[in-house]
Amino acid sequence: MTNKVKNYLENGVHEIRPKVLFKQIEAKFPDSNVMFSVNIPSSAIGGLTLLESSILVTLAKLISLSEFFEFGTYMGATSVLMAINSSAQAKITTVDLEPESIKSSDGSDGALILLDDVQNDNYLRRMFAEKGSYYIDRADTATRAKIHRMYHDSRTLDPDKEGLTNRFDFIFIDGGHDYETIRVDSDNALKMATEDAVIIWHDYRSKIHGDVTSFINYFSSNFPIIYVQNTMLAFTLKGKFRSLL
Ligand SMILES: C[S@@+](CC[C@H](N)C(=O)[O-])C[C@H]1O[C@@H](n2cnc3c(N)ncnc32)[C@H](O)[C@@H]1O
Repeated sequence: MTNKVKNYLENGVHEIRPKVLFKQIEAKFPDSNVMFSVNIPSSAIGGLTLLESSILVTLAKLISLSEFFEFGTYMGATSVLMAINSSAQAKITTVDLEPESIKSSDGSDGALILLDDVQNDNYLRRMFAEKGSYYIDRADTATRAKIHRMYHDSRTLDPDKEGLTNRFDFIFIDGGHDYETIRVDSDNALKMATEDAVIIWHDYRSKIHGDVTSFINYFSSNFPIIYVQNTMLAFTLKGKFRSLL
């Protein structure tokens, strides 16, 4: 287990209850039932809970999502969630490793995948290499057409070269969970975000992925972070979206 990262103080992290966001939806759509569509959560590890899914959709609706970027496609459940619950014009781009680049030697010890961060990440990569993003494969044609899948190691992603700079108003960081990957993905997210944008991370305060918590606590000294209680979601608001909360 990686225990090498200093535990930064979480001075810039503000906790909210989920209902703080739900109230904003009620204020934005006072005369509508605001519905969303979601798969029954997968029994596999590594996906979002129902509450977390509802928070992502809530934020997408509050900002009237235009372009979403996801680090870490995995089964593709969140790509599909965002594609189904956004306007017909919205676009979803999601990146994961080239499946052939995932070494079968990076196996995981079944007993440790829920205890150890490295073993857990190895397991998620192997699952992706073996099964691919099958939620996207099984989605209907219109949903699939909104999703662009990229295969690239995010640690060597060059946003300028890939045409990703200054493009996305919602970015979800949920790829590799080691400190260096989170740091590089977060730096790139800042380049890829439009002036008004939301950047959200999964696995904040995870019992397994301590590096995510350490990085976000450190990051919060420059960018105020909002942590949503009863989830592992933490986000920062840019530009005009700062006044959302
Ligand atoms: C927790 S899963 C993502 C879950 C997905 N975001 C969801 O909501 O369903 C993490 C994924 O990140 C991918 N990943 C790990 N390291 C990566 C890297 N360096 N570049 C791109 N993807 C990576 C893994 O292959 C795995 O599929």
